Amino acid sequence: MIKIGGGSFAEIPSLLKQLFCQHPLIVTDAFLMSQGLPTRLQNMVQQSGMDCAIFSETVSDPTTEAVDAAVRVFQAGGHDSLVSFGGGSSIDTAKAIGMLVANSGRCRDYKVPNLIPKAGPVHVAIPTTAGTGSEVTRFTVITDSANDEKMLIAGGALLPSAAVIDYELTLSMPARLTADTGTDSLTHAIEAYVSRKANRFADAFALTAMKTIWEQLPVAFHEPGNHGAREAMMLAATQAGIAFSNSSVALVHGMSRPLGAFFHVPHGLSNAMLLPAVTGFSIQSAPHRYADCARVMGIAAPADSPIKTLDRFVEALFNRNAELQVPSPKKYGISEDRFFEVLPTMAAQALASGSPQNNPRVPTAAEIEQLYREIWN
Ligand SMILES: [Fe+2]
Repeated sequence: MIKIGGGSFAEIPSLLKQLFCQHPLIVTDAFLMSQGLPTRLQNMVQQSGMDCAIFSETVSDPTTEAVDAAVRVFQAGGHDSLVSFGGGSSIDTAKAIGMLVANSGRCRDYKVPNLIPKAGPVHVAIPTTAGTGSEVTRFTVITDSANDEKMLIAGGALLPSAAVIDYELTLSMPARLTADTGTDSLTHAIEAYVSRKANRFADAFALTAMKTIWEQLPVAFHEPGNHGAREAMMLAATQAGIAFSNSSVALVHGMSRPLGAFFHVPHGLSNAMLLPAVTGFSIQSAPHRYADCARVMGIAAPADSPIKTLDRFVEALFNRNAELQVPSPKKYGISEDRFFEVLPTMAAQALASGSPQNNPRVPTAAEIEQLYREIWN
């Protein structure tokens, strides 16, 4: 169930009633709390006759520690449903809460390739970024507090019951967050389309999403109050989510998660750091698929030669990073010693996530290490 469009936020109480929720727990973060929005949502829900509490200790790159704390709040409060409100971190946290409430055990027990036996309680997802697409995907990524590993967890049990997608919630997003979350969406669309798991259903969503994001992300970045660009980005982010949830992500995401886990680079930003170089590495293994991307995004004309089309595509991705002011890991302030010290571990974790195996060109651990070296500066 998807409610989409400006003002759809107001429909949340009636949606919760349709789903027979009586005592939802709102899962959100401290930043949104400081903006007053979760309290507004809580009041709306309570005025509709439902009891409702807020868990606001969600952290970015959600950890097992934060999820376990939220599970205790959910159980002690006798809640029957979840309303995640925020960026991908809040939605991913709520997915993990639902999974542990229904199945017990620890997040680690359900890491890919393990299966999740039972679906959790009703979960309504309300994204405030455009975006991770998490509101329409069957994935969550949780960092193990014990060893800093970003664990990919997958299964139909994680798919939210409903999503309320209101672009007006994104109007106040700062430029950096707009760029990073928008590039995450672009990466979802491109990776879904070139993935070894690509299929015609996902292709349609991926192509539409990448065309829109390529056009509209710079507009939203430079003009935060542009309603048309914000609305287009919000829709495209959800379409990109549907695309990769039904296909997959690939090497960029596989390599991006360890960068987030070890150095707390925001997810979309670490994707951006990797996207041009990883595309350059992969492009000859699926030239027709990447050429489709270049044409639909308006980077190459149909008459351009195949070589020119692919060269232009990689060049355009580098140029876009420059426009969106994406730093290298070095410029971001990561310790050089630490970066090169953990290279083998990052490469091993990237491979273990399974995402690189969906890439058009499946890399070895040594090739992944080499790509990390390439993007360092
Ligand atoms: Fe992503």
